[in-house]
Amino acid sequence: MVLGILKEIRAGEKRVALNPQIAKQFIEKGFQVKLEKSAGEASSYRDQDYESVGVSLAASKEELLQSCDLVLKINPPGLDEVKMAKPGITWLSLLYHLTNTELIQAIATAGQSAISMDAIPRISRAQSMDVLSSQSNLAGYKAVLLGADQMTRAFPLMMTAAGTVSPAKVLIFGVGVAGLQAIATAKRLGAVVEATDVRAETKEQAESLGAKFISVKDDGVKTEGGYAKEVTPEYLAKQKEAVNKSLYNADLVITTALIPGKKAPQLISAEQVSKMKYGAVIVDMAAEQGGNCELTKDGQVIIEHGVKIVGINNLASSLATNASELYAKNAFNLLMHLSSKDGFKNDREEEITKATLIVDNGKILRS
Ligand code: NAI
Repeated sequence: MVLGILKEIRAGEKRVALNPQIAKQFIEKGFQVKLEKSAGEASSYRDQDYESVGVSLAASKEELLQSCDLVLKINPPGLDEVKMAKPGITWLSLLYHLTNTELIQAIATAGQSAISMDAIPRISRAQSMDVLSSQSNLAGYKAVLLGADQMTRAFPLMMTAAGTVSPAKVLIFGVGVAGLQAIATAKRLGAVVEATDVRAETKEQAESLGAKFISVKDDGVKTEGGYAKEVTPEYLAKQKEAVNKSLYNADLVITTALIPGKKAPQLISAEQVSKMKYGAVIVDMAAEQGGNCELTKDGQVIIEHGVKIVGINNLASSLATNASELYAKNAFNLLMHLSSKDGFKNDREEEITKATLIVDNGKILRS
């Protein structure tokens, strides 16, 4: 099987779907790997690093899309890329197929196949393939650093001859993969950390990392396949009540709450922002999905009521070397599961295949 690696076209994207080390592992398994020139450059992987492990450079993007069997990408392909690629090709990337219906239809019309990296089921044996986890983990770390950089205060307690600097107070909404890494990072920097989540099981996880958990007085929220479900307006009102004291005292707030296939829940209203500490910072990791804070502007850093609201998205891309390496390893594990060097096993009854195979040779299987 010939794997093609494209240079990502999403604005500001620095990641690449395959690094030289994992390319070598594919080649050792009998795959051929072709790379669009300088595809890894923004992740600090040079063309010669790929060539040294046996990857060939494509003459052009078109030549690559006409000659490979499977294209490994991070972001969903563009419609122009789908048109440029030969029929029968398979796309393996994030697809967000539930909301990207035009793209899925275009792939089907072109007689191609598509496997979605964001549809990996949350089961133990698929953990090593889970790109949402590997990328969120890095993003959670970066969110704290971004927040620290925007703050006008230090994180740790400092006892100096000039006086004592009290530790920063950090509040984290959403104790999933990103939230847990944000807790760990903020604790390592010396902050006092509090966290909250709708899933009751996260209390123990947050506490084990040294955060104080803020519980909402409610029956808790049902989860489906590891994901939280949308909560009621009554729950959101109770949550606001429970967190307000901490929110108004926080120096840094990091929000990570997401509901798959839905707009992000709004957890901080404009009115709440107006009552926050002057100079506090909110890093809204859900900016791209509509934001957890009512005032967030996707892709921007704004100041409202003296509070800096950071809506910078795609944080994993800013750690492109690690993010690409982990994405590549996830993709390698998935492909080892789904295929051999001779082609796909296409076992449609198998759980991971069933969840991730969205289009099969022009036929839409999941929508
Ligand atoms: P996510 O990105 O979908 O959501 C982030 C967090 O926001 C979640 O913890 C969610 O409960 C929380 N949230 C949603 N609505 C909220 C609200 N209104 N208020 C406060 N918090 C809210 O979740 P993520 O980080 O991708 O994963 C969540 C969990 O799923 C992980 O902690 C892990 O236990 C599990 N998981 C399991 C995998 C596997 O077994 N293969 C892979 C990935 C995750």
